[in-house]
Amino acid sequence: MYARITGTGSYLPPRVVTNADLEKIVDTSDEWIRTRSGIERRHHVDPGETTSTMCVKAARQAIEMAGIEASDIDFVVVGTCTPDQVFPNVGTMVQAELGIINTPALSVEAACSGFVYALSIADKYIRLGEAKCALVIGADALSKLLNWSDRSTCVLFGDGAGAVILRASEEPGILTTVISADGRYRDLLQCQYGPSRGYDALIAGQAVGVEMKGAEVFKVAVNTLSSLVDVTLEKAGVDRAAVDWLVPHQANLRIIQAAAKKLGLPMEQVVVTVQDHGNTSSASIPLALDRAVRDGRIQKGQMLLLEAFGGGFTWGSALLRF
Ligand code: UT7
Repeated sequence: MYARITGTGSYLPPRVVTNADLEKIVDTSDEWIRTRSGIERRHHVDPGETTSTMCVKAARQAIEMAGIEASDIDFVVVGTCTPDQVFPNVGTMVQAELGIINTPALSVEAACSGFVYALSIADKYIRLGEAKCALVIGADALSKLLNWSDRSTCVLFGDGAGAVILRASEEPGILTTVISADGRYRDLLQCQYGPSRGYDALIAGQAVGVEMKGAEVFKVAVNTLSSLVDVTLEKAGVDRAAVDWLVPHQANLRIIQAAAKKLGLPMEQVVVTVQDHGNTSSASIPLALDRAVRDGRIQKGQMLLLEAFGGGFTWGSALLRF
């Protein structure tokens, strides 16, 4: 039994923030942001929009493409590190809004690897026969956690949500997933305030938001993603020549190019959205996937490699037949 993606969906908040807009807020330039990261614009939520409201919109599109009813869904999992509230979890909010009842509903916190972690969990439930139709979402509103006086981070992140429907199938779908982490790297990329640590500073508005030692993260990301490609293909027993599309986490165009080179894939076979979305954390892979499915690049039966890297550090991949 496999878990197959039968529908994809996405949502981006309407408010577009360009590099030129950011030049008015911090000491930066369009040229610096483009050459160092590849980012040209990103979307930010407006007041009233939250992670769960974005999730619901992405989920509705995925449900429609899959040709199912929300009531067919028997497992809901959301990868996010920017939940609406401490609890209830975002999965339950999505579940309630879509009218799904009496199913597991959870959220998984793995920073930018959240979607791949969520996909890996849903895949296991389907393979074990404990779920038949899962809604898997990656969503984040990192604009809410940015430090607007830190030019080295505030220009990089955007908001959005992407969703997939995974159905039990005898036809191959997800061939393998790999998830892993190394918590020793906590200080290189973090938002160090939460309900059980520094909460007073957070509610007093003194918290500093996302902090990143960019150049150090860059090096570990490139090395980790490079070995992740080998580990994933080896685990699945698939040759790298069989991969039709790389759908990577969209943090930095240079990191994406390094991963493509490692795979021996031309950039024409890599889905790149970082220029339009920035780094949307958990949402970046499902947003990129949905774009390439809807514009017809990704076709049924093709082999896709998804790979992510984020704070923790966490990382993960999925090799699948679409
Ligand atoms: O999604 C989770 C994983 N995240 C990542 O994978 C992100 C990994 N890191 C990166 O993508 C890159 O390291 C960045 C895009 C964040 C930065 O690029 P970089 O080439 O590593 O630059 P840097 O951090 O080494 O900074 C170079 C210079 C510094 O100036 P000096 O010290 O050389 O004079 C910074 O102060 O660029 C300066 N700088 C800026 N200048 C204009 C930093 N941010 C900006 C800015 N505008 N926004």
